[in-house]
Amino acid sequence: MNNPDRTTVVILGAGRGGIALLELLTHLPRVEIAGIADEDTSAPALPYANQLKIPITQDLLSLIRQPGTHLIVNVTGDSNIDRLIVAHKHVETEVLGGVASKVLWDLAQHVAKIQSQLFQTEKLAGMGTFASGIAHDINNPLYILLAFSENILEETDVSTIHERARSIIEAGKRIQGICQNITQYARTAKAVDPCTVNVNDKLDEALKIARYATILQDLSIVRKYAENVEVLANPNELFQVFVNLMTNAIHAMEGRGTLTLSSCCENGVGKISIADTGSGIPTENLEKIFDPFFTTKPPGQGTGLGLHNVRAIIKKYGGELRVVSEVGKGTTFTIELPKSPM
Ligand SMILES: Nc1ncnc2c1ncn2[C@@H]1O[C@H](COP(=O)(O)OP(=O)(O)OP(=O)(O)O)[C@@H](O)[C@H]1O
Ligand SMILES: [Mg+2]
Repeated sequence: MNNPDRTTVVILGAGRGGIALLELLTHLPRVEIAGIADEDTSAPALPYANQLKIPITQDLLSLIRQPGTHLIVNVTGDSNIDRLIVAHKHVETEVLGGVASKVLWDLAQHVAKIQSQLFQTEKLAGMGTFASGIAHDINNPLYILLAFSENILEETDVSTIHERARSIIEAGKRIQGICQNITQYARTAKAVDPCTVNVNDKLDEALKIARYATILQDLSIVRKYAENVEVLANPNELFQVFVNLMTNAIHAMEGRGTLTLSSCCENGVGKISIADTGSGIPTENLEKIFDPFFTTKPPGQGTGLGLHNVRAIIKKYGGELRVVSEVGKGTTFTIELPKSPM
């Protein structure tokens, strides 16, 4: 029996537009995608539908005839399919085809573009909170660089001068490394098709950025990584997910505590958790933390888009995001992502 509050949709055609359409519809809580059909088994939206656990078929007619469907969206661009639908669909099933489906297709792509702009905006806004951490990290090698340069001006012993020069180069390279990390991070992430991502490497890469969220050094990092944990995702987006969760954790600990990063793989599903020993989240806020613009941080220190984007990305790849928290003890966010299309 269908849930009366939900609209059951089936999609005919799994071309490039099918991907944008799947992305758009999976974000709508009252829409259920009951299936997608394409005669071409190599159609690009099919692996994505698989990952989202949406039934796929080559038999368009069976999907057209499927009972309980409220709406058939035809994005095959084939007018013969329009005729097939009219001849075989259930009376109560509505149809979106022709120009109307093309408009929906365009809208879906437009939403995908805006979503990626939103990710980039949130990322750049969040970089402000890294400023003092970055300055702190640059300050130490900068101090060595200046002190040893001054020392060389007065030093006459050649071997000491060489030794100092080596330290100066070393300090310069450290600053160069910091600058490279930051410019790489700030760059707009290229749209990449989902691929197999090594989770442990991504967690380590993200930590290099997230640790700028504090200038306090009193932070223990515990890694509990299983070997070869892989998931299917856009590597840039997954990186952003990890940076957001780690930054929140570090902020919640106010620079002091233990950040535990864990990864494992169970039954083809990659499990990642990011746990902190920070302030914890009050029960009444647990419902709200994923809402766009919900933040408990002072103005200028948080946009409240971090977790909203994290959830959107995880959902896009058919994954799960869970949170367990206790006030005064800490918080654990757990992500589950399929390793490959089922
Ligand atoms: N690990 C955590 N421990 C305690 N509270 C948390 C944690 N993660 C998130 N929160 C709470 O959830 C709120 C929303 O988090 P979210 O990442 O969406 O936004 P933000 O961190 O406030 O701002 P930003 O958009 O810069 O990330 C935070 O303001 C904080 O109150
Ligand atoms: Mg945040």
